[in-house]
Amino acid sequence: MSAPRKVHIKSYGCQMNVYDSDRMADLLAQEGFCETATAADADVVILNTCHIREKAAEKVYSELGRIRSLKQAAARAGRRVAVVVAGCVAQAEGEEIARRAGVVDVIVGPQSYHRLPSLLRRAPREGLLVDTEFPIETKFESLVPGAAQAVRRRGISAFVTVQEGCDKFCTFCVVPYTRGTEMSRPVAAILAEVEELAAAGVREVTLIGQNVSAYRGAGRDGEICTLGRLLYAVAATGGLSRLRYTTSHPGDFDAALIAAHRDLAALMPFVHLPVQSGSDRILAAMNRRYTGADYLRAIERLRAARGDLAFSSDFIVGFPGETEADFQESLRLVDAVGYAGAFSFKYSARPGTPAAALADQVPEAVKLDRLLRLQAAIDRNQAAFNAKCLGARMPVLFEKPGRHPGQLVGRSPYMQPVHVMADAPMIGETAMVTITDLSPNSLEGTLVPKTINPRRAVQGEPETCPG
Ligand code: SAH
Ligand code: SF4
Ligand code: F3S
Repeated sequence: MSAPRKVHIKSYGCQMNVYDSDRMADLLAQEGFCETATAADADVVILNTCHIREKAAEKVYSELGRIRSLKQAAARAGRRVAVVVAGCVAQAEGEEIARRAGVVDVIVGPQSYHRLPSLLRRAPREGLLVDTEFPIETKFESLVPGAAQAVRRRGISAFVTVQEGCDKFCTFCVVPYTRGTEMSRPVAAILAEVEELAAAGVREVTLIGQNVSAYRGAGRDGEICTLGRLLYAVAATGGLSRLRYTTSHPGDFDAALIAAHRDLAALMPFVHLPVQSGSDRILAAMNRRYTGADYLRAIERLRAARGDLAFSSDFIVGFPGETEADFQESLRLVDAVGYAGAFSFKYSARPGTPAAALADQVPEAVKLDRLLRLQAAIDRNQAAFNAKCLGARMPVLFEKPGRHPGQLVGRSPYMQPVHVMADAPMIGETAMVTITDLSPNSLEGTLVPKTINPRRAVQGEPETCPG
């Protein structure tokens, strides 16, 4: 019997790419491929790329340079290596990759992964193949989810794509062009995948979509189902102890989604809600369709539904035309919300997006200065949030062994890693932990004796970490 062929997949960008990479691995496993962690011994190398900022896209070209040498070395040893560029750079710059790289065999866009096996079979005969069509069907619906493999790779926590694409057309963003228009998976397909994951040991599922709060899938009753209703349905499948969703748009919070935060104990009290800017003038120029006050109102409504909710966000600094006064509004918003954490980015002009053509681009040095000041404000917020966790009790879902013998690492409801001395069989279980120490990126704690009711504590008892 010949040795199994090996595939190496490198993912860049968002969780959607992580999920897609796992699905590609599942798909190729059906063709007899096993995964390898290194490119050097792979027969197929897949770069699953991101186009969101210039730096992300440039990484692909430097990585292809390294892979060219690997491919040449393999060829000298009589071994053929196929190189695939997938993801959003493939979709946006397929032609450019073909022209600049010369090393690539297959260029495949995010909607065409189900055709990857046949593309790989055809490439040796036909030369470079480019498949960046947007098909109408949802790309993975024809696949067997392959939960056993998924669990081996993902452990206790897994992503499930429920929605893909975006119709919002924020003026800075490439996603509507690389992922196409919004598509939602039917409820039945999502529940089947969730049940399979839960049966194989997954305890936490994060429903993902570029614009997940715009989810509008076909329900089992034939009605259109929103994200709020979908969360109730997923929670009712049983087997999962935690549920999350990302990324949502502040303009899309309807009553059902807010009620889900009130009613579903499994829905974690931590919401990633990107605001981008605190300035109404800049938000309008970004086509975000809400004001700073609208955003704060959405946060208030969510906090009214569940008192221990905490938030994270994304910010862009140096959007064209952003003045110091506009930027100050972003700083004010950070402190008004009191984030548990946030990502911040310098605006990056993306080809083909409306903002890239605006005249008043902000100089790089100004962007960097604002980024550092914003990050300092976010770090202050995060440190204050973590400080409030010290001495608190919170439920921790244990995921894997820690670095020290007898130690496990789990996650708090707010995604903070928590190190606890606990026995390995507790992996996959949720237990109450008292937080005893803080370090910049994680918490330490000790197990609380089992008499404490975790449900009461997570829902806003004074001793929990406050949002
Ligand atoms: N769908 C999500 C965001 C997806 S992209 C939303 O609506 O917010 C992830 C983050 O990348 C964005 O929130 C934004 O902060 C950042 N981003 C997107 N395009 C960018 C650009 N051209 N320059 C800098 N940051 C960008
Ligand atoms: Fe991009 Fe998000 Fe805006 Fe859609 S809503 S265009 S994904 S930033
Ligand atoms: Fe990047 Fe595409 Fe995700 S551009 S952030 S990989 S949707």
